[in-house]
Amino acid sequence: MYERARKLWPEAEWIEDVKLREKVLAVWEYALEHSVLSEKDLEEIPFTMLVKDCRVSFMTHKKAVVHVAVQAAREMEKWFGESMPIDMDALIAGAILLDVGKLLEYARDAEGRLVTSPEGKLLRHTFSGAGLAMKFDLPAKVVHIIAYHSKEGDMAKRTPEGYILHHVDFMTFEPFKDHLW
Ligand SMILES: [Fe+2]
Repeated sequence: MYERARKLWPEAEWIEDVKLREKVLAVWEYALEHSVLSEKDLEEIPFTMLVKDCRVSFMTHKKAVVHVAVQAAREMEKWFGESMPIDMDALIAGAILLDVGKLLEYARDAEGRLVTSPEGKLLRHTFSGAGLAMKFDLPAKVVHIIAYHSKEGDMAKRTPEGYILHHVDFMTFEPFKDHLW
């Protein structure tokens, strides 16, 4: 079950809670089935439209966020221990699902070019991603990470996992946008 999602996200195996892992994969499988984007597209399209001539693909950026966040969380656990408990399963699930809503943000125009879908114009991926996660009964802790990972979340308090993913997402994006090299 969820073969496409499983192939795309071997990192889901890091989630120890099997039920949570299956829900994460269910969300991705559903998004892949309802997206105009194929796995090949995800490996090819730039991860952002806000960087001119961006050569980093959507999938490369998604993977980077998951891997960097896990390393960061492990270091924080090592240094802060019980002073800042981190739910690794929630962190990994949230990281994998962070931008899943983007799969619904795309449509193809009459010439087959990728454009923003009508739904994408109305609902940013933080909202559509949270909606998808709720549809598959992901826990609030994971929905929170998705919903608050971008600028919308700046209005709210975040969990430790939410803060980590917010910063990892932006620190792997902003240097491409406003760099000094
Ligand atoms: Fe995002």
